[in-house]
Amino acid sequence: MRDLSIIVLAAGQGTRMKSRLPKVLHQVANRSMLGHVLGLAQDMQPARLVVVHGPGEEGAAVAAEARAQAPDVLLAEQAERLGTGHAVMQALPALEGFGGTVLVLYGDVPLLRREVLQELLALVSAERPVAVLGFEAADPGSYGRLLTTADGQELEAIVEAKDATPEQLRISLCNSGVMAVDAGLLRRLLPRLSADNRQGEYYLTDLVALARGEELRVGLALCDEQDVLGVNDRVQLAEAERVMQRRLREQAMRAGATFTAPDTVFLSVDTEIGRDVIIGPFVVFGPGVRVADDVVIHSHCHLEGAVVEQGAQVGPFARLRPGAVIEAGAKVGNFVEIKNATVEVGAKVNHLSYIGDARVGADANIGAGTITCNYDGYMKHRTDIGKGAFIGSNTALVAPVKVGDGALVAAGSTITRDVPENALAIERAEQRMSEGWAARYRERKAAEKARRKG
Ligand code: UD1
Ligand code: MG
Repeated sequence: MRDLSIIVLAAGQGTRMKSRLPKVLHQVANRSMLGHVLGLAQDMQPARLVVVHGPGEEGAAVAAEARAQAPDVLLAEQAERLGTGHAVMQALPALEGFGGTVLVLYGDVPLLRREVLQELLALVSAERPVAVLGFEAADPGSYGRLLTTADGQELEAIVEAKDATPEQLRISLCNSGVMAVDAGLLRRLLPRLSADNRQGEYYLTDLVALARGEELRVGLALCDEQDVLGVNDRVQLAEAERVMQRRLREQAMRAGATFTAPDTVFLSVDTEIGRDVIIGPFVVFGPGVRVADDVVIHSHCHLEGAVVEQGAQVGPFARLRPGAVIEAGAKVGNFVEIKNATVEVGAKVNHLSYIGDARVGADANIGAGTITCNYDGYMKHRTDIGKGAFIGSNTALVAPVKVGDGALVAAGSTITRDVPENALAIERAEQRMSEGWAARYRERKAAEKARRKG
């Protein structure tokens, strides 16, 4: 939208998080809260997007995350934390020459949705140059209270809880903090804010009364409390996570995936899940996972930075780490860890294996307990297993090493040299046998035990 600019306030200290990390960098569904807000902001395609960050190291970390999430972002520093109105003032230089509507968002409100913002923006017009997003709060607590016009449709003022009369505190219609204002009006009214209030801050919310003082109308859009949940501590962070997880699961289910026990599955914002995928209970998707159609992920799997291609099966109890690619129809079974490795079409790694820095060729079969020994304490090395190869159980493949197409490695071998195509490699001590030894042993031991008791 060419006539829309967005300011994201993210200069707050977030003391209640009790954290070394700036509040807006805490994550929900594996993306920072600031990332969520900037993702939404970018969806709105604003002419300009400004993030107001704090000073020092914390502020620099916030600025860096803003740049990482939105390369075109403009940054404004608020050196002193003098209130939301003061924070918006710091963004004005970045909006120089812009004449449309300015939307103010908070960096710690990660659950906002685009539809909600569109409803708010639709209220802004020449005679109604300000609009505020409000909600009915179950527990209004410290939220600013919305004072409406007689018909309840528009706003007269916003009173901060700390400045409110007992009567005003009984109002449950609250300010979300999200506001849309005409840019010209914003420039004209901001310098008129005063810090003459209980907190000694320049409140952005006072803009409403200032606009009314000029006989201008102030619109009111309503949304669910959930959409504007502000995260101030870790309990609210967990609540935001809960809501976000439910949204992500529902989105995946609506797109054609079955979740046997949805409440036990955890997704990341960027998790991609195809159609006719079945996901069992207790599965965790870290960042960067793509699951193609017809895949089955059995219970208790952990996936991160991995791709699972069509019709493959994973788990139960499998771990796919970054760089794992499970190609079509391949199987990765219980207690198997795959890292930076491709399991090609139709190959099987069914039990108790570690496959790292490797290729498992098409239709190869990896026996139980096979380990790619990829690390020598200093460097990582690759293992290459050819197509149709058979690796017997309890094999250690000491990388760098290659097993040719169709080769067979006997169980229990420690393979340190390349195995040619279609060869047999066996590396074991010869088996010795002693006839009757076990029977004689039992006899001797039983007699010894009887002597001691007697
Ligand atoms: C604010 C609103 C309140 C509303 C509530 C909703 C004001 C005066 N009050 O109160 O009406 O009900 O949000 O959650 O606006 N920030 C800065 N610089 C500052 C101060 C704040 O960047 O100097 C940022 C914070 O990082 C945060 C946002 O602005 O993202 C809100 O600040 P916060 O202190 O949480 O305001 P509330 O007291 O919650
Ligand atoms: Mg707040």
